[in-house]
Amino acid sequence: GKGGYDHYMLKEIHEQPQALRQCLQERVDELSGAIDLGDDLQQTVRGAEFIQLVACGTSYHAALYAAQLFRSQGVPAQAFVASEYVTAPPPYSEDTLVIGITQSGETADTLSALREAQRRGVETLAVTNVVGSTASRECADALYIRSGPEIGVAATKTFSAQVVAANLVAAVLEDRGTHHDFASALRDLPSQVQEVLDETNAETVAERFVDSEAFFFIGRGYDYPVALEGALKMKEITYEHAEGFAAGELKHGPLALVTSETPVFAVVTGETGSKKTVGNVKEVEARSAPVVAVTDGRTDVGRYADEVLEVPETDSRLAPVLANVQLQLVSYYVAERLGRNIDKPRNLAKSVTVE
Ligand code: F6R
Repeated sequence: GKGGYDHYMLKEIHEQPQALRQCLQERVDELSGAIDLGDDLQQTVRGAEFIQLVACGTSYHAALYAAQLFRSQGVPAQAFVASEYVTAPPPYSEDTLVIGITQSGETADTLSALREAQRRGVETLAVTNVVGSTASRECADALYIRSGPEIGVAATKTFSAQVVAANLVAAVLEDRGTHHDFASALRDLPSQVQEVLDETNAETVAERFVDSEAFFFIGRGYDYPVALEGALKMKEITYEHAEGFAAGELKHGPLALVTSETPVFAVVTGETGSKKTVGNVKEVEARSAPVVAVTDGRTDVGRYADEVLEVPETDSRLAPVLANVQLQLVSYYVAERLGRNIDKPRNLAKSVTVE
């Protein structure tokens, strides 16, 4: 059941601290800070010279994020929309690893991309929530995100767990061995998510902007996939026009869309170019668009914002998870005000088993 919540989506948003604890359990050693994903998987990951990620929708946003993490460890990595990977397969080498990120493990496009990789004799890894799913059975290796069942069509807790799982893989890539600071940041993440859930003002923000013409989301670096995900969640469950942009792309076209009727959600966390995003916020403000800053307070972006959705400070690589929780809540409350069918949005299915 919905455990006292009006919708599965809200229940699942609130299950995120637990979902992340499960994802981390026995993979991060409390004392030494060592990260352990099992010998087989670690060998596969460390043997990879190139990584290609394939995924759809929300999982694609997790893949974009993962690719950036892996690149930061010096491993060339690229995320592909699964259907495009199949349409125009990129070059590969013997040492390429193809990682499919798929909550359900049943998404037809992602399975096709993984099968394409297997036909080429390339190593495959499934990052999935469902034990025994097609992706987990067909790939050479599987990494389970252990979120528990997700019933709402909109992916919430599974996105957060995918991002945490990607961080674990990146840590193994770097052979960080024991990395106390990062391990303790990981350990604190579930309670920081809880803090966001307990203290959020997302409902107020939703109420203020529910009648907007459109919703825009910007971010750079690790905040960029969060901007895309914030927009996808918004359009999916509210049926309103929403778009996510790399903050730096704003002035290359999208800025023409920005008016006083279009709030811009600026995700500004960590160290990845936050200052530049503050510059973009000023540009938006000059066009009289309302600004909602989703921020950890490392910059003064709050000074230029009409509303602030605060997140606790953590490692730059993890902060986007917290920012995303705020955006999930804003979308939820906008959809609720608009009376949408939140758990089963029109035209959408939880598991898309046709290409
Ligand atoms: C968005 C959403 C979809 C899925 C996509 C991939 O909230 O749920 O975009 O993320 O259909 O699904 P999986 O992860 O099961 O492959």
